Amino acid sequence: MMTNLTTPYYLIDENKLRKNLEIIQYVREASGAKSVLALKCFSTWCVFDLMRQYLDGTTSSSLFEARLGYEKFGNEVHAYSVGFSSTDIKAISKYADKVIFNSISQLMTYHADVSGMKLGLRVNPGISYSHFDLADPARKYSRLGVSEKDEIMKVASLLSGVMFHFNCENDNFESISTAIDYIGENYGPLLERMEWVSLGGGLYFTKEGYPVDRFCEKLIGFSEKFGVQVYLEPGEAAITNCAELVTTVLDVIHNEIDVAIVDASVEAHMLDHLIYRTTTKVSYPEPGRYRVMIAGRTCLAGDIFGEYKLRGKLRVGSEVRIADAAGYTMVKKNWFNGLPMPSIVVRRLNGTVDVVRKFRYKDFKRSLS
Ligand SMILES: Cc1ncc(COP(=O)(O)O)c(C=O)c1O
Repeated sequence: MMTNLTTPYYLIDENKLRKNLEIIQYVREASGAKSVLALKCFSTWCVFDLMRQYLDGTTSSSLFEARLGYEKFGNEVHAYSVGFSSTDIKAISKYADKVIFNSISQLMTYHADVSGMKLGLRVNPGISYSHFDLADPARKYSRLGVSEKDEIMKVASLLSGVMFHFNCENDNFESISTAIDYIGENYGPLLERMEWVSLGGGLYFTKEGYPVDRFCEKLIGFSEKFGVQVYLEPGEAAITNCAELVTTVLDVIHNEIDVAIVDASVEAHMLDHLIYRTTTKVSYPEPGRYRVMIAGRTCLAGDIFGEYKLRGKLRVGSEVRIADAAGYTMVKKNWFNGLPMPSIVVRRLNGTVDVVRKFRYKDFKRSLS
């Protein structure tokens, strides 16, 4: 299949993407909650024409992401940052319609400069769901959002909304349901004064078997109780399982087990797996009895995709596809070791395969000076 394409490349499949998007659309219609795509997770704008049909806009973590959301996605642009600079603030109103501050000090420093915009504040509810301390917004000494309720109430008149982001890959409805109740019980007087409340991202409601209707009922209950427009900020939930990193085996060495070295790298092309010490899944070849370690080709000793049992022996020239290569993947790719950057390829809804971007030596050279 597609043998004329040169590996490595990221392959985004719009039909798979649409399955996630249809669930998001369903939640929007059934619950009234709006969904804005979290660009920090996925900014590959060549599929935004499809995505914008199912989402209300984007949310960002920097001025550049906000600008990309404005230029390439359109509709609502939420601009959040852990720390805005005065330069960011001067530019932000060109691109965004909401600014969400991470702290009261940032709100007080900049609110007058963006007074024509809808202002929000990130609240840290002190509860969270995350399998990783690294990604836990409620970890000790967390700098993500304001924890002191009394302080938030003092600035409430400046705000039209608040954002709670406290989940990471939460696929457990009971847990989010309890958390939404907790927020309602603990922040009622604040919520009643707001027009909108974002419940953030990290909610895996596009997962097969997720009780989507119960989730919608929960969102409706919350929205009606406090008279607020609810927002969700899906990143992973929007793009999970819709892309692969397609690679070719360059060498197979034997050191107690077979180690197949492919023409890509975990460190350069799927960095999150190294950060979180997780193992990638292989979508091709299929599972079987051949035990092999698949490794990247940077100099890092631990540049290892994982150890697998596959059908058929891997040889030089074999194709290996690493699954789930969209979220927090393409946004983190880098030029370590000067490796060729995977091209970006899209299989469109009608089956056409578009090579939308190829990277060359000049891109590597220009990334530094
Ligand atoms: C504020 C905020 N919103 C949304 C998201 C998207 O989360 P996810 O990709 O897990 O859905 C994140 C991720 O860290 C975030 O920090």
